[in-house]
Amino acid sequence: MVKICCIGAGYVGGPTMAVIALKCPKIEVVVVDISVPRITAWNSDTLPIYEPGLDDVVKQCRGKNLFFSTDVEKHVHEADIVFVSVNTPTKTRGLGAGKAADLTYWESAARMIADVSKSDKIVVEKSTVPVKTAEAIEKILTHNSKGINFQILSNPEFLAEGTAIDDLFKPDRVLIGGRETPGGQKAIQALKDVYAHWVPEANIITTNLWSAELSKLAANAFLAQRISSVNAMSALCEATGANVSQVAYAVGKDSRIGPKFLNASVGFGGSCFQKDILNLVYICECNGLPEVAEYWKQVIKINDYQKSRFVNRVVASMFNTVSNKKVAILGFAFKKDTGDTRETPAIDVCKGLVGDNAKLSIYDPQVQEDQIQRDLSMKKFDWDHPLHLQPMSPTSVKQQVSVTMDAYGATKDAHAVCILTEWDEFKTLDFQKIYDNMQKPAFVFDGRNVVNAEKLREIGFIVYSIGKPL
Ligand code: NAD
Ligand code: UGA
Repeated sequence: MVKICCIGAGYVGGPTMAVIALKCPKIEVVVVDISVPRITAWNSDTLPIYEPGLDDVVKQCRGKNLFFSTDVEKHVHEADIVFVSVNTPTKTRGLGAGKAADLTYWESAARMIADVSKSDKIVVEKSTVPVKTAEAIEKILTHNSKGINFQILSNPEFLAEGTAIDDLFKPDRVLIGGRETPGGQKAIQALKDVYAHWVPEANIITTNLWSAELSKLAANAFLAQRISSVNAMSALCEATGANVSQVAYAVGKDSRIGPKFLNASVGFGGSCFQKDILNLVYICECNGLPEVAEYWKQVIKINDYQKSRFVNRVVASMFNTVSNKKVAILGFAFKKDTGDTRETPAIDVCKGLVGDNAKLSIYDPQVQEDQIQRDLSMKKFDWDHPLHLQPMSPTSVKQQVSVTMDAYGATKDAHAVCILTEWDEFKTLDFQKIYDNMQKPAFVFDGRNVVNAEKLREIGFIVYSIGKPL
């Protein structure tokens, strides 16, 4: 019986291992983490992350062949295959600060693996890492190996939050990179055998280590670039009277371009796009490729521009002042169907509005008040460095931000509504009721283009959509 251990019980480690356990009943899977509250939650009825379909998968195999534990060393020691799915945040200090990946968590996991191992192991990079990380990991492992054979594989994860279970059940592809030696090829085959339980062979791609590592950064960069491209167009649409949805539809009909991932928005968020592009930029700079670095940097610049453009539009349209005006924020998560707020555009928009002295009333179906207060008090990049965190709420955040239980509470007596996440429930709100309870003129700023602007205008709202004529 093959034993798998995954270090890191986060958004990737938890769901990925739960699906492996479900699809491979003969494999024992243990997910370990240094965070006691996280493991406790994984073993409880309230899982630490909200992800459609996840509860069901975990319930089917937890206690049978899926286990969650804080006994990291014991389970690593017993495993044949060790996945490493720890966080790889942006460095906040020292060389490469603000761009390079911080591999502290990764390195400490690798040293621990070397320390506790007494038998040969396959070590799988699941985290997103800079290209050539496997070389460093290999050095740490082999220099401390006491004669044990470690094979390193790169097996980056492509799931998106909110659709993680579907993505894991039916991945577009599984990518496995390894050494081109007999040992490397044998390790690739062993991991292939795991995925082959449910992924068609044609969808399992094998490459060398560096191609696999770089493909993950490249895929995220390409995806984010599409959003920045359509968002750049949205600014031009607003200036010219073109409609960004019509432009995106027309452009996406070209089969070479395709229709997906062309929704203009207030900006992309999430824990990875910005982090991974900054990392890519840093790698290009380190390899003497400043022009390539500059090209990718622009994707982040447009995203920052889009968020500040949104704030400026709100303030400018409301007679150049939002001071002491109540502004309702509908949606705080970085996308629908997740409670994750890492790098959500809502943080920058809310900070921008608070900076202009607005009073915010926030509602999100999945994000709790303490999370919102913490996010708005935190410095850039601190969110992924749990050890640096000192979540002291500045008084301005406490005084200017409140959190409500529903959209009607948030919008009552408000001057404006900003929609920042595309939750389905926002499409079916009773906007007549909302309008009746708001200050007039009542503004709607739809940062996700989810509401029917024409219908809202008929009610009496002044509606601003992204990239659409007024
Ligand atoms: P996360 O922060 O949710 O989880 C990481 C976990 O690792 C944390 O629970 C942390 O306590 C644990 N950890 C850190 N060091 C440890 C150690 N030495 N021993 C044991 N546990 C340790 O992060 P995540 O969102 O799951 O992302 C993990 C990696 O996967 C990142 O590199 C990310 O870029 C990548 N990724 C994320 C997504 C996503 O949708 N979130 C998708 C694809 C890839
Ligand atoms: C993204 C990638 O889609 C995954 O393939 C990848 O594995 C993951 O990053 C990662 O490496 O972490 P995720 O960030 O979970 O997944 O979610 P996405 O669906 O990609 O959305 C990212 C952001 O872009 C969200 O804020 C979303 O609202 C925004 N977005 C997405 C748009 O503004 N427009 C679009 O057309 C699509």
